[in-house]
Order: sequence, then structure tokens, then C-alpha cells
Amino acid sequence: MSRAGLEWQKRVDGTTSPASAPCSPAGEGRGPAKSQRRLLSHSPRETASVGAALGRCLQPGDILLLTGPLGAGKTCLTQGIAAGLGVEDYVKSPSFTLINEYHTAAGSPLYHIDLYRIGSPNEVHSFGLEEYLAGDGVVVVEWPERAMPSLPVEHLLIELALEGDDFRMLTFSPRGARYRALVEECLCSWP
Ligand SMILES: Nc1ncnc2c1ncn2[C@@H]1O[C@H](COP(=O)(O)OP(=O)(O)O)[C@@H](O)[C@H]1O
Ligand SMILES: [Mg+2]
Repeated sequence: MSRAGLEWQKRVDGTTSPASAPCSPAGEGRGPAKSQRRLLSHSPRETASVGAALGRCLQPGDILLLTGPLGAGKTCLTQGIAAGLGVEDYVKSPSFTLINEYHTAAGSPLYHIDLYRIGSPNEVHSFGLEEYLAGDGVVVVEWPERAMPSLPVEHLLIELALEGDDFRMLTFSPRGARYRALVEECLCSWP
């Protein structure tokens, strides 16, 4: 694994808590995992519903990084996020285009980026990743590990893990005050 990959793994592992960990009440917990939330999804529909709940809470400039193997449900979750933002177009994987842009009900864009086919972190410059990240839209990135040095330190990391055919474990790890507030506001009361 590359040095960047190892650093990414360390960042991910360093804030991962047990599968049953709920949101900590305000004032409890330590460090960036304070508001970490884990949810077990039982179906694609449930994953999309979680995404929609999250999407309804998002603001322009929010950055969500989605990790997990092929078929984990990253695009499924993004379809829910888009629905929550009021996107009317069908959201499909940008695996070949790298980025798809959608109009949300609020008027600001949703940028759905998939870095699976990026060969090296330097390639992200050629399609202007930094401009999208600094823009006025919500940014959802699949395969962020491929461009870790170019991504902001503050973000909501969402790890999706396969748990059999239809179950997926979703782990939400906020990095920064905005994302801790987002998880607490949006996901801590999720059933
Ligand atoms: N609980 C679940 N959540 C999300 N997808 C699921 C779930 N159970 C089964 N699936 C299936 O897994 C696949 C996920 O595909 P996709 O969202 O494109 O994954 P990724 O973008 O991570 O490669 C779909 O075929 C979907 O029907
Ligand atoms: Mg995908």
C-alpha cells in the first residue's frame, strides 16, 4: 500500500469505535469520534432512506467522503442523498465521467464524484477537483482514498461495509464541528 494509502487507513482506523457505538451525548466522548454513528441497513431502500435523511440536512459546501468496496452501496446512498436534496434527475454512477452534477431544490449544485478510475492522486488536478471542493455545492466523493492528499481535513467520512447479501454497516465519522453537528442533528435520532 502507498504511503498516502497507509496514512488514510491510519486516519480511518484511528477513529473507528465498536459496531454498536451510538452517538455520544453532548459533552461526552473524546476527539473526532465523539459523534460517530453506526447504522445497520437491511436493504438498498433503507440505505437510500438514510441518505435522504442526511440529504435533507446538508448545506452548500458540505463534503461527504464515501468508502467501501464495489457494491457496498456508495452510489445507492448518494441516490438517497440526492433525493433528500430535492434532485429530480436520476442519479447514476459517475465511474466513467468522474463527476456528475445535479441541481438541487435549493438551487445549489450537488457534485457526485467517483475517483475509482483515477490512476494517481495527481490526475485529480486535471478535472479540477479542488474547484469543486471549494465551490458552493454539496460534494459527495466515492473512492476518496485515491486522492487523499487533495481532500479537506474537515468532512463527513461514511464507511460502508458488506454484511452478507443485503445488509450493510454504515459508519459515519465526522471530522470537524460542522460535521459533528450534522451527525447529531440528522442521524442520532435515526431508529
Ligand atoms: N443494504 C443495502 N444497501 C445498499 N445496497 C445494497 C444493499 N443490499 C444490497 N444492495 C445492492 O448492492 C449494490 C450496491 O451498488 P452501488 O450502490 O452501485 O455500490 P457502490 O457504489 O458502493 O459500488 C446494489 O446492487 C444494491 O441493490
Ligand atoms: Mg458507486
